[in-house]
Amino acid sequence: MPAPWRILLIDDDPAVHARLKLSLPAAAFTLTPCYTACEALLIIENEAPDLILCEIDMPDMNAIQILTQTDILKQTDMLKTRPPFIVTSKKSEAPCIVDAIKAGADEFLLKPFKENLLLETLNKYLSPEKRRLPKDLPYSEEGAVKDQEESRLVGDSRGIRGIRKEIRAFAENDAIVLITGESGTGKEVVAQELHEHSPRAGGPFRPVNCGALPEALFESEMFGSEKGAFTGALTRTGFFESSRGGTLFLDEIGELSLLMQVKLLRVIEDKCITRLGSNASLPVDVRIIAATNRDLRESIAAGRFREDLFYRLNILRIIIPPLRERPEDIPILSYTFLREFAQNGPHKKFLSSSAVCKLTAHTWPGNVRELRNVLQRAFFISGPEKIQPEDITF
Ligand SMILES: Nc1ncnc2c1ncn2[C@@H]1O[C@H](COP(=O)(O)OP(=O)(O)OP(=O)(O)O)[C@@H](O)[C@H]1O
Ligand SMILES: [Mg+2]
Repeated sequence: MPAPWRILLIDDDPAVHARLKLSLPAAAFTLTPCYTACEALLIIENEAPDLILCEIDMPDMNAIQILTQTDILKQTDMLKTRPPFIVTSKKSEAPCIVDAIKAGADEFLLKPFKENLLLETLNKYLSPEKRRLPKDLPYSEEGAVKDQEESRLVGDSRGIRGIRKEIRAFAENDAIVLITGESGTGKEVVAQELHEHSPRAGGPFRPVNCGALPEALFESEMFGSEKGAFTGALTRTGFFESSRGGTLFLDEIGELSLLMQVKLLRVIEDKCITRLGSNASLPVDVRIIAATNRDLRESIAAGRFREDLFYRLNILRIIIPPLRERPEDIPILSYTFLREFAQNGPHKKFLSSSAVCKLTAHTWPGNVRELRNVLQRAFFISGPEKIQPEDITF
């Protein structure tokens, strides 16, 4: 007798699980119950079910997002085939049903399931001779699947989708980009993405923490020095030279002193540098990306930041919204982080639905970095399989 088909049921309603268990002959089907989308994605990746039944409107992600992530797993070869994906809902009129089918879902089933129709549908997709090849890239208006697959920037909110578009638009250009956003929102991730999508991707990406540069060393660190330029000086290349052909990422630019700002402005205007102790001017071949979590206009008003430098930097601007303004990104970010932690350890872990609720209700002053830290802690202190709300501490 062939092994039973493995069905993954994604639904937050326990009654649906109980009813389906009764309807399906155990000899032919094994049912994996799953109550959150985060958990579902981990199961899909690790257990590659034969078929997925998914409630259209899960509390932590909708079915289209789950489907999109499943397609990404297939396209990145983490799944051999994309299992047939059947969306379910109590309402036959839900507008997102059409969207789900457009996005590549195979079928829609109304709940409560009619036993005959259910078995007929399962057999249609599961009988070996009729098993279909996985669909090609699903229809997607904005190429969302492709974008996410190629992006280290995780998230599906409007804000993050907009930033992906900006990255694509700005990457080709060599103009300065200014990235602003609260601490931990992902400014460095965005800067790396910009570099990797740019024609300079083959060159270095050089992050410099401007907040950690002492004024006395600014010029030698940034522009380099010739032997003997000052006591103990050796010939060395500065950050501008060592990022030649690539991208210089000036992080925390709002922390530069006024004197350092003047020196930087001169280089940006002249497009060349002079090593300390030398007269030769060297052309600058770097793209500058700057980032800050400060409001630079406020710093200008307070006399801490030069207005002329601000206008030089503020050409192409990417503003990253804080995590509390895009809570819909929390489940997919959590899934990504939990998957990463599981790769470094023996266990994979899921978030219980009440744990997801606790995460989405928090205001995240430390943004994505805080989410990552909170989950890392929860990952280690939680029981063997599920992360519960009490494992999550802020
Ligand atoms: N959209 C995202 N997708 C995946 N990881 C993210 C995302 N945003 C942030 N992270 C992760 O969160 C952490 C903080 O991100 P990052 O260092 O880019 O933030 P930042 O804005 O530069 O913070 P700070 O202002 O404190 O320097 C990193 O571990 C990063 O990988
Ligand atoms: Mg940073």
